[in-house]
Amino acid sequence: MTKHLTIVDHPLVQHKLTLMREKDTSTASFRQLLREISLLLGYEVTRELEMTRKRIETPLCEMDAPILEGKKLALISILRAGNGLLDGILELIPAARVGFVGLYRDPETLQPVEYYCKVPSELEDRMTIVVDPMLATGNSSVAAIDLLKAKGARKIRFLCLLAAPEGVKRMQEAHPDVPIVTASVDECLNDHGYIVPGLGDAGDRMFGTK
Ligand code: URA
Repeated sequence: MTKHLTIVDHPLVQHKLTLMREKDTSTASFRQLLREISLLLGYEVTRELEMTRKRIETPLCEMDAPILEGKKLALISILRAGNGLLDGILELIPAARVGFVGLYRDPETLQPVEYYCKVPSELEDRMTIVVDPMLATGNSSVAAIDLLKAKGARKIRFLCLLAAPEGVKRMQEAHPDVPIVTASVDECLNDHGYIVPGLGDAGDRMFGTK
């Protein structure tokens, strides 16, 4: 059991995150920054991809060169805000297979209920990266990963932009085998389930909705 948490403290990530947090940052800038930051976070979350060697010929000689091993990885976006992280990571890994999980919160039980799930085949053989910008209560992330495990996924990583300590704890209790990569673990959740200081509603800010 890894129970692994990586906070990406690279200066570019932290600078871009600060710009995203500012309340007057426009929708267009927010989206652009999210795209840029997702490339940098994507670099970190794929650090442990398995490698093999391939015999190639350079213009000078032959060599055994490192190359990614195994099936194409699976990127799973938790709708809708996950799509903001997805675009940048797909630029980094254009051959990745992509899935979507949609969950809503039942107003009576407050538990996440699946309304959409379309994921790549053979998840058991793929590294699976689940993306959602905000790890708040952790309820939807835990439910999405439950679902992916039920469909066979075994090597899962979770990527978010911001996390609350409550969400990290919930994820690590439910899925201690799933490493979490984030740009920041903020102070807490408020009574409305927002991350504080946070950046507000990530979906609204990236899509310009209210
Ligand atoms: N989802 C968001 O978009 N923002 C939060 O602060 C918490 C959950």
